[in-house]
Amino acid sequence: MAQDPKYDLPIYTPTARGLHWLIALLIFIQLPLGFYMSYRGNEMPSVNEKGEPVKGTWDALTGFLYSSHKLIGLTVLVLVVWRLFYRLTRGAPKSDPMVPAPLTGVSHLVHWVLYLLILAVPLIGLEAILYGDYRDIFGFQLPAITAKDEDLAKELFEWHEIGAFLIIGFVALHILAAIYHRFVRRDRVVERMIPKRLA
Ligand code: HEM
Ligand code: HEM
Repeated sequence: MAQDPKYDLPIYTPTARGLHWLIALLIFIQLPLGFYMSYRGNEMPSVNEKGEPVKGTWDALTGFLYSSHKLIGLTVLVLVVWRLFYRLTRGAPKSDPMVPAPLTGVSHLVHWVLYLLILAVPLIGLEAILYGDYRDIFGFQLPAITAKDEDLAKELFEWHEIGAFLIIGFVALHILAAIYHRFVRRDRVVERMIPKRLA
């Protein structure tokens, strides 16, 4: 792993940092996008062709949001597989010896739970659209590799939603930990992912 000579601090490589921040950005877009499009598609009051009030609005914007969510989600899936491969073959920089061992242990646990979640949630989303036969992404059809099973798709979408809430919880913990390191302990853990550059 890269060593920043000015700080003598083991830091993540540019590839590891690039993947961390790109995936973080896409997940910050993906979560509100998922909730909002799902609200439009399932809940937002509208009227059908006969003028009767119904739940759920499916217009061009809703379709665009669903396609965007699927495309961004599949991009996250590819990036996470790349990142996990990189992490498992290259490892991570040595833990900061100034951080007490139990804290390091908990942080590693949270990191591996996050890896599991950011792999499982898009995979479940993909499975759900394949079983539900919602395979359209901006007019392009994903191949039908399973028979249609709407009940299974419904169950998978429930797990997809639970997984999304778990991501929110663990990311919140992860961000609070970063704030704690930076402003309470005032150690250099955050610099491992955001290296300071001296002029
Ligand atoms: C890290 C990646 C992903 C995150 C964080 C995420 C998050 C979410 C969230 C928060 C919702 C709204 C849940 C609800 O209120 O019911 C949702 C719904 C949905 N997601 Fe994802 N998603 C991801 C990846 C994917 C992928 C890869 C696909 C498919 C290729 C996908 C397809 C869907 C669909 C079709 C819905 C709508 C379900 C409905 O309308 O009932 N998602 N997602
Ligand atoms: C403002 C948002 C975020 C901040 C400030 C932040 C900060 C950090 C820092 C400083 C580390 C290095 C910890 C160490 O070296 O001990 C790290 C690692 C990590 N972060 Fe984040 N992060 C953020 C968002 C996210 C998001 C959204 C995810 C994924 C959902 C994520 C997943 C991870 C994982 C899995 C690691 C472990 C890397 C490894 O050792 O393989 N982070 N983060």
